[in-house]
Amino acid sequence: MKNFKNVFIFDHPLVKHKIAILRDKNTGMKQFRELIEEITTIMTYESMRDVELVPVEVETPLEKTVQYKVKEESIAIVPILRAGLGMVNGVHTVFPTACVGHIGMYRNEQTLEPQEYYCKLPDGIENKTVFLVDPMLATGGSAVDALNALKKRGCKNIKFMAIIGAPEGIEKVAIAHPDVKIYVSTLDRQLNAHGYILPGLGDAGDRLFGTK
Ligand code: PRP
Ligand code: URA
Repeated sequence: MKNFKNVFIFDHPLVKHKIAILRDKNTGMKQFRELIEEITTIMTYESMRDVELVPVEVETPLEKTVQYKVKEESIAIVPILRAGLGMVNGVHTVFPTACVGHIGMYRNEQTLEPQEYYCKLPDGIENKTVFLVDPMLATGGSAVDALNALKKRGCKNIKFMAIIGAPEGIEKVAIAHPDVKIYVSTLDRQLNAHGYILPGLGDAGDRLFGTK
């Protein structure tokens, strides 16, 4: 895959360890859900290195000091339904008061084209740092459309986090949205003929929610 300035692939041993378990077809729903959350929390820490801090005055037991804090009210989380829901708690572990919008998308299984079926975003989202989250970045169609929807609402500062990405999908999103920072914890090999990521982990939504 080409190098893109707006793409960040994690290469953290702890994430590798968790992803090995996540991929295993014998990993059950509970553990799968917990791993998605844990990996998302690690990714959130890593992706916030450039977050804006505001000075605050703090009084320690010894003296007054100026310290720096994140403006928590300036963070929003937007999962792409369904599977993105599994990542919301992982971001909330870091930013418990972040508000949550939802964008519903499903892929047409024949054409692999995304169809939007729901969009509800919090008021004022255009002034927030938005974490768009979806564990799987396959052809990239869902992410590109979800980012278009956020930009239509005026969002300017968007980070997209996916747990597993295929080179085709990462490239498509990076080119369509060069201003969006794309964080992927693992770069996989390719898509199969049905648009599934290889080696991948199967259908993330089904594994999270116990459907088929
Ligand atoms: C999966 C996944 C992404 C999308 C990725 O959702 O969670 O949203 O596919 O594929 P793409 O990059 O080719 O667009 P799916 O459509 O299976 O819906 P679900 O989450 O409701 O299962
Ligand atoms: N969506 C998934 O859940 N898994 C894939 O491999 C591709 C798209």
